Amino acid sequence: FKIQWFPGHMTKAKRMMEQQLKLVDVVVEMLDARIPRSSSNPMLIQMLGDKPKVVALNKIDMADPEKTEKWLQTFKNSGLPVCKVDCSTGKGVKQMVAAIQQVARPVTDKWLRKGVRNRSIRVMIVGVPNVGKSTLINRLVGKNKVVAADRPGVTRGQQWVTIAKGLELLDTPGVLWPKFEDPEVGFCLAVTGAIKEDVYDRETAVELLLERLMHIYPEDLRVKYAIDFSEAEPVREVMAKIAVARGCLKAGGVLDIDKVIQLVLRDFRTGRLGRFTLDEPSENN
Ligand code: G4P
Repeated sequence: FKIQWFPGHMTKAKRMMEQQLKLVDVVVEMLDARIPRSSSNPMLIQMLGDKPKVVALNKIDMADPEKTEKWLQTFKNSGLPVCKVDCSTGKGVKQMVAAIQQVARPVTDKWLRKGVRNRSIRVMIVGVPNVGKSTLINRLVGKNKVVAADRPGVTRGQQWVTIAKGLELLDTPGVLWPKFEDPEVGFCLAVTGAIKEDVYDRETAVELLLERLMHIYPEDLRVKYAIDFSEAEPVREVMAKIAVARGCLKAGGVLDIDKVIQLVLRDFRTGRLGRFTLDEPSENN
């Protein structure tokens, strides 16, 4: 699976992220629960140094609940504070704030030892495009008060917002660039909507997606589209069955495969097809 990508964008995004990180004490890395591996950026660890981090698995409502539990365990096993959130409803957001306060403790303790009091912990949300950063920020900001806008390093238009006692959030998220080198990662980011559609082939993406779903979630596909297929069936035949079942036909009864591509992508991305997780959690849980 090929993504046409531009290393220049990555360099710029990395430089920006490094600048923004200087402003904060704690980082929330938001991951897409459907693709926790593919939506993470391994370079973040290096950039963070010893800055504490909380992992927030978002879009839980669209992910496979069993695999989500396994993923949570995987993160816990590696010693990372992790929580699950559904920013579309706000579920889990309170617990996430509590997790931030907890990882910030060593920082505030250090300040106290130095005699620094009444200083707020500053937090920033980071993640790949479309993972739900702005939705989370809007939820957290809500009716909360904007603190001082003028602080060194804060770009015009950015603001700090008090979201809990002693906790200030930067209201602009940090955008992490996706890692495209691995075709599997590129595929996962493309079908979940983290990558703009003009840099990959949608038809190939949908073929791969359907092949994957035919193996890991065949029943959801059968029920959702009211079709039958064997797992070994060529994907084009399954696409033809979807076209017939859904009336994706052009004049003269010709199958409209473009329409099927559009339909499957939309159904997958909205969660209408089912709750799917494409990145497999590690086996040793
Ligand atoms: P970003 O800042 O990281 O780029 O992402 P953003 O918040 O803009 O969210 C991207 C899309 O994901 C939005 O949908 C948003 O509503 C949706 N979203 C965010 N969190 C969740 C979640 O927990 N569950 C589900 N199901 N969806 C979530 P959109 O269709 O692009 O926009 P809209 O029509 O919802 O406004």
